[in-house]
Amino acid sequence: MACVTPPTEQRPKTSPDLALQKKLTEQLALIASDKTLRQQLNQAMKFRTRLCQRCHGVDGHSRNGRCPNLAGQNPGYLLQQLQHFHDGRRQDFQMQSIARPISDADKIAVSIYFSSMPPRPASTKKNDQTTQGEALFRIRCAQCHGERGQGLYTYPRLAGQLPEYIRMTLHEFAKLNSRRRTSIMREIASILSEAEINALAAYISSME
Ligand code: HEC
Ligand code: HEC
Repeated sequence: MACVTPPTEQRPKTSPDLALQKKLTEQLALIASDKTLRQQLNQAMKFRTRLCQRCHGVDGHSRNGRCPNLAGQNPGYLLQQLQHFHDGRRQDFQMQSIARPISDADKIAVSIYFSSMPPRPASTKKNDQTTQGEALFRIRCAQCHGERGQGLYTYPRLAGQLPEYIRMTLHEFAKLNSRRRTSIMREIASILSEAEINALAAYISSME
């Protein structure tokens, strides 16, 4: 028989990804309206994220070009990526071992915690390369990551990210055996030249 679609009652009503994002939205609304709750979360997470801080920095700014800054990153994106490390859609030995034992509720809490930290640009340099990067960004990246590189929901903020991390990640997307094999970025990154990657990384890291 050619029919492969299961009957409606056998299909899950919402995907686990969507259900998790919905819980995050509810939690964000709750925290936005309750200052005490916000303070409690911050206080608790300051201690509970000590492991994360070793690589991602106490203030969400990393000093190692392999580790991304998390400060000011969109909470929906942080949560999605923790989920992807958890189930292997995104591969990284360290982050997978770290994400696997974290409960859904804690993934939501750390995502809110790091997203609430104020971000600052990794570089303040403006030169010919950043001008070239800006032009490229407007044409090829802004429609998804926003004119100012802030992203939205599960579309990541790029503004101010470490240039080494941007370069490494764009190369990673373009690889045949990418560690981020489900990403929409794979095709986009695969047509970028080395000079374009360098220009984009220089401009993105200087965006505020
Ligand atoms: C030993 C160092 C290390 C520790 C500890 C660590 N991370 Fe990471 N994290 C990394 C590296 C390296 C990457 C980039 C992985 C890659 O190349 O895909 C990363 C990526 C991430 C990302 C994806 C961000 C993005 O911009 O795509 C998130 C979210 C994240 N880490 C959250 C956490 C949280 C939460 C903790 C603590 C529970 C933590 N990390 C602890 C090294 C670490
Ligand atoms: C069609 C929409 C779209 C366009 C166009 C796009 N991106 Fe993305 N990008 C995404 C999404 C969605 C993600 C995160 C999801 C994922 O990787 O699975 C992402 C992730 C990234 C990341 C990883 C961020 C991190 O913290 O790990 C980088 C770097 C990036 N994009 C750079 C670029 C650059 C540079 C351009 C322009 C050349 C661009 N993107 C164009 C949608 C887009």
